[in-house]
Amino acid sequence: MSSRIAVVPGSFDPPTLGHLDVIRRAAALYDQLHVLVVHNPGKEAMLPIAQRLSLLEQSIEEGDVEGDVTVASWSMGLLVDYATDVGAGVLVKGIRSQIDVAYETPMAIVNRHLAHVETVFLLPDPAHALVSSSLVRQVASLGGDVSPFVPAPVARFLDTGSRDI
Ligand code: PNS
Repeated sequence: MSSRIAVVPGSFDPPTLGHLDVIRRAAALYDQLHVLVVHNPGKEAMLPIAQRLSLLEQSIEEGDVEGDVTVASWSMGLLVDYATDVGAGVLVKGIRSQIDVAYETPMAIVNRHLAHVETVFLLPDPAHALVSSSLVRQVASLGGDVSPFVPAPVARFLDTGSRDI
């Protein structure tokens, strides 16, 4: 297991500019980065996993992300099982507020106990500090313009109304 290989896990429903900022910066810090779409049973999904994968791939391609970045999904068990499978010793999460710290801390402790996988927290660019997928879902579902908050491929997709498929 290598501390040079990291996983950025999340629901990415949909990917936001905050996610892309964390991915871009993590890709610069690690030799290999796995961006992993994980189904979160605690959240009602807007987009199918395959759509989130496609939007992430397009956003990374268009988003000035440099480095060895793989996009994948995981529904076969624990997040740390994926990390162990690909030899990753680090999970990278973005932390926007004390609420995120409270949400992420128990998961980081459990993941370290389960598989000796460390969690590294990156602070967001202030421009993205208040952006969340749940707010984007709400604005999009009510017909608002989400383009200031999401990468261009996501804005294009949500704008077409094809999310209703
Ligand atoms: O973007 P989200 O919804 O905040 O991401 C949360 C996610 C998917 C990273 C979290 O729910 C998760 O790690 N799920 C994997 C299940 C797991 O391994 N649970 C046990 C240790 S926390």
